[in-house]
Amino acid sequence: MQNQQDRVIIFDTTLRDGEQCPGATLNVDEKLLIAKQLARLGVDVIEAGFAFASPGDFEAVKRVAETVGTEDGPVICSLSRAIKADIKASAEALKPAAHGRIHTFISTSDIHLEYQLKKTRAEVLAIAEEMVAYAKSFMDDVEFSTMDATRTDPEYLYQVLERAIAAGATTINIPDTVGYTTPSEFGDLIRGIKANVPNIDKAIISVHGHNDIGLGVANFLEAVKNGARQLECAINGIGERAGNTALEEIVMALHVRRQYFNPYLGRAPESEAPLTNIDTRQIYKTSRLVSNLTGMLVQPNKAIVGANAFAHESGIHQDGVLKNRLTYEIMDAASIGLTDNQIVLGKHSGRNAFRTRLKELGFDLPEGELNKAFLKFKELADKKKEISDWDLEAIANDEMQSS
Ligand code: KIV
Ligand code: ZN
Repeated sequence: MQNQQDRVIIFDTTLRDGEQCPGATLNVDEKLLIAKQLARLGVDVIEAGFAFASPGDFEAVKRVAETVGTEDGPVICSLSRAIKADIKASAEALKPAAHGRIHTFISTSDIHLEYQLKKTRAEVLAIAEEMVAYAKSFMDDVEFSTMDATRTDPEYLYQVLERAIAAGATTINIPDTVGYTTPSEFGDLIRGIKANVPNIDKAIISVHGHNDIGLGVANFLEAVKNGARQLECAINGIGERAGNTALEEIVMALHVRRQYFNPYLGRAPESEAPLTNIDTRQIYKTSRLVSNLTGMLVQPNKAIVGANAFAHESGIHQDGVLKNRLTYEIMDAASIGLTDNQIVLGKHSGRNAFRTRLKELGFDLPEGELNKAFLKFKELADKKKEISDWDLEAIANDEMQSS
């Protein structure tokens, strides 16, 4: 991947960190469906799993690498602790990918060193260097993360990053593992890294955020202003505890406010060119698919993809929107792929309308499953006047699980 500084790389971790949230476990086929949709969405990197963690995860990384990791497809990545066996498993699972990436990490904060790793700073420094070099022996594209970076002594962090880059890391990732940092503090940290890590120009600076105090997107925006060029995020913000930075939110923030961010990326202020490769019209479909397959509901007032995100209830707002949508809308619902649904499905609806609506909701069922789902739809339509999207999603999910 090129070290471009005038655009932002989107690294999706829905299938790895996202799947780490309680109850969101996905099987290999479900992961594959999501990976295909992530490729359509246009993410640059898909973190498909943690190959060493379980045979299922190994298989998922391998299948995503085989199926989605084509020559013109996204980079496929597998997570590995800074341990040889983990790195080797990732390298093995990633073999079928045209563009693979090993992502290795180790904690760098004193609290993690003392209580979790039980290692000194010097030991961790040596392990980081050795394991990045080991990963590099398998492939060129190596990402290195300093876990709990935002609670790490910055001077020590600079040293670890310098050594990891010297050992061959092409992306260095700064995780806010416990969702602790604040926007201005995170911006300062990224600026400090740029100023104090001598070989920093040889690597892309990435950030990884969690939402424990609800600051994931705000932190990323400051990071971008200060030089971060890869953002690690998950669809619908799913992930450990309060979740990861939500992909749809950070992407649309950069999209809607691109003219504000242009100068920070060295672009002409008035440029309309997108800052990411994301096809924003695929966002809604991807959100629905992830919600359906993980069983993680999207709160109605969730930014961008919540059911109410484009709904206007108050009379004053409705009046304004009817006169000119820009009075109360900063983005067009169609820009995230939300179409005004003109077709109401009921007992007179045909198979084609049924299939089209399912596709809009992110379900591309094979012919046999579609036929069975259509029969269930007809049965339900005999009992209910109008069939909602929720009904359709339930039917499609049911069919996918029973096939
Ligand atoms: O939150 C975190 O620190 C992580 C790393 C493995 C990147 O998920
Ligand atoms: Zn994380």
